Amino acid sequence: MKYYNNFNIALVGIGNIGSSVYNYLVQKKNYLISQTGSNYNLKYVSAKNLKKRRHLKNIKKKWFSNPLKLAHKDDVDIIIELIGGSEGIAKKIVFSALRNKKHVITANKELIFKYGNELAKIAQENKVNLLFEASVGGGIPVIKSIKESLISNNIFHIYGILNGTTNFILTEIEKTKKNFSTILTEAIKKGYAEPNPTKDLNGEDVKSKLSILSGLCFKSGILSNKFEVQGIQNIDYLDIEYAKEFKLKIKLLAISEVINNKIKLRVHPSLIPENSDLAKIDGANNAIVIEGQPIGKIVYQGLGAGKGPTTSSVISDLTSVLKSEISLPFGYDINKVKKYKTFDFNNHHSKYYLRLTVRDKAGVLSIITNILSSSNVSIQRIIQNPINFNQASIVIITHKCMEKNIKRTIHKISSKNFILKKIVMIRIRDEKKL
Ligand SMILES: NC(=O)c1ccc[n+]([C@@H]2O[C@H](COP(=O)([O-])OP(=O)(O)OC[C@H]3O[C@@H](n4cnc5c(N)ncnc54)[C@H](OP(=O)(O)O)[C@@H]3O)[C@@H](O)[C@H]2O)c1
Repeated sequence: MKYYNNFNIALVGIGNIGSSVYNYLVQKKNYLISQTGSNYNLKYVSAKNLKKRRHLKNIKKKWFSNPLKLAHKDDVDIIIELIGGSEGIAKKIVFSALRNKKHVITANKELIFKYGNELAKIAQENKVNLLFEASVGGGIPVIKSIKESLISNNIFHIYGILNGTTNFILTEIEKTKKNFSTILTEAIKKGYAEPNPTKDLNGEDVKSKLSILSGLCFKSGILSNKFEVQGIQNIDYLDIEYAKEFKLKIKLLAISEVINNKIKLRVHPSLIPENSDLAKIDGANNAIVIEGQPIGKIVYQGLGAGKGPTTSSVISDLTSVLKSEISLPFGYDINKVKKYKTFDFNNHHSKYYLRLTVRDKAGVLSIITNILSSSNVSIQRIIQNPINFNQASIVIITHKCMEKNIKRTIHKISSKNFILKKIVMIRIRDEKKL
């Protein structure tokens, strides 16, 4: 067979994902050639430590000690960056590779979130690919789908579960009735959470993924607009138990919408009906819902991380390059982005769940209800349960009210000396929007 093209590949980063991609490229070469019509040579491999024990065949023959120099080599056509991080070596390699007219494939959501707009411009100017399918949703082919299959649509709403670690933790708390910190320790031990899971827990990981998806869907470039971001650190099994009483489930949702030319971006725990589709996404799974015209609603679901799913996305990007397809990095011209205003989140309108841990003494409930009514927050349900002889939990479900009013209420109640712990507030997602 005559090949359409020949490509030399440099793979930088051979950790968890990089080693899996390495094995795929070595073992499935004939298959990929038959699928794309092009030949490739995995010419160089680089990582930090040559002496590290890795069970990768022929790795030493391909080893190149300075990964930065690979971005300048004439005999490299494609760089696959699997180091990670928005700064340091990964940033330098990707910038110089694109400037030197090399195609870049990366799984690095932090880099795309922070520098995606600049990188897309360079890739566009140099007519090379910048592909990042694996940066959001692991193996879910959502990026290519937005850029290509949904091109005819005016997308106005994206929401879903974009972090497998937090979804796993919430699912385990519900199954085992253990508290947050115990489940987190177990998740780290089993490898379901990173040793330092801060960015997963505080919502920052989801923020970067939602920014990328929104930038593609709304044709706005990657957004650094004001975000409402809240993680799951304050959620405990008590909240999950109460949620069950109300036939609700807690999920860390990423939500972005365009309303009257304003973008509303948020990541926070949400209470959703237990029989809704998203409530059934358990464990390390992700789900992404996109709404637009003319398609209506489309749902993507699958494992959001891990070797298998991430390798699938990296290889999918590679086959696009091997087929000699050159595409705009964001699926539209980065020099012609749409401009939006930012929605003021104080004007968000929702029902709220509040859990208060209070000293159990006479008059507490009436002080709380007075503060709520003076802030224009009306109560739909209220439950008081004793915790021990002098402490109680008070759980309140409000009617729909403004975010600024609920924040004012929480601020006022928190200053009272009968409040023993930080008040837990969870927004209740409007059923019609699920
Ligand atoms: N893990 C997942 O499930 C997943 C899912 C989606 C996306 N991603 C993304 O995929 C990328 C890689 O993740 P990973 O889990 O494979 O990370 P990892 O296991 O920590 O691997 C990182 C690799 O980068 C190399 N490296 C680190 N610093 C370097 C330096 N200064 N110079 C050269 N090489 C350096 C390491 O070298 P040594 O091997 O010598 O230490 C290692 O091979 C990240 O952007 C991540 O966000 C990961």
